[in-house]
Amino acid sequence: GKRLRPLLAVYMGRLFGCDHPDIYDMAAAIEFVHVASPIHDNVLDNATTRRGILAAHTVYTPTVAILGGDVMLAHAAGMVARIGDKFISMQFAEAVAKTAVGEINEFNYLGDANLSYENYLDVITGKTAWCLKVACELPAYRAGASEEQVKAAAAFGLELGIAFQIVDDALDIAPSKDTGKPSGGDLRERKCTPLIKFYLETLSDAEAKTLTEKFREGSFTEAEIESVIRVMREKGLDRKTRDLANPHLERAKKALTL
Ligand code: FPP
Ligand code: MG
Repeated sequence: GKRLRPLLAVYMGRLFGCDHPDIYDMAAAIEFVHVASPIHDNVLDNATTRRGILAAHTVYTPTVAILGGDVMLAHAAGMVARIGDKFISMQFAEAVAKTAVGEINEFNYLGDANLSYENYLDVITGKTAWCLKVACELPAYRAGASEEQVKAAAAFGLELGIAFQIVDDALDIAPSKDTGKPSGGDLRERKCTPLIKFYLETLSDAEAKTLTEKFREGSFTEAEIESVIRVMREKGLDRKTRDLANPHLERAKKALTL
């Protein structure tokens, strides 16, 4: 992986003049959570590859992959507990819970092409952004930043995380050679993202009704999925989706100017 979260954690600590070993423990713990989550996610999504290599559950079985992820979460909790700060431990636990609840919400909305943008944002804030939020917030706090600065660091991480997931969702129709995972995964998995909402807007009422039904049933043929992806690309819906990340990036930048 990119190790983006630990990098953010270390930089955020340094920004406030702190390079204490606790920052590195937090950085590693957050990366453990992040590594565990796609191991679990690949099982939930029945995804066989990630970044072009086989998903852990296809090599070690889903049982071992899930439990291996749990071991990582336990290690991470231990590393954070050793720091011995109640706020850090509580926020860390909250991030793990928010990530899992985000996934539960996403699961509950599967197949619903009428998902509101507000509910979509809620899902991605939980499943993706909270982890980046604590990666920025906790090192700032450990470094002794003021309450206002800690809040700004948290806002920076949260907004960056939301933008990150929006771009990830736009990349769903990128060629698989660029992403290491099959194109159109969200369509197959019946996950409603802005791409699907924008696509629906281009259809007649009758066509939209058919698509909504097929999305609910998960009954698209491979040829239909390929055709939807082609039209989405032609109409630049990935660009339109990426643009939704802009206000979040602006807010992230603004938080840094505090
Ligand atoms: C990727 O989304 C998934 C996540 C960011 C979160 C996964 C979290 C869990 C499975 C809950 C378990 C919780 C913990 C903390 C281990 P995606 O499927 O849209 O993205 P993808 O295309 O990269 O798979
Ligand atoms: Mg997935």
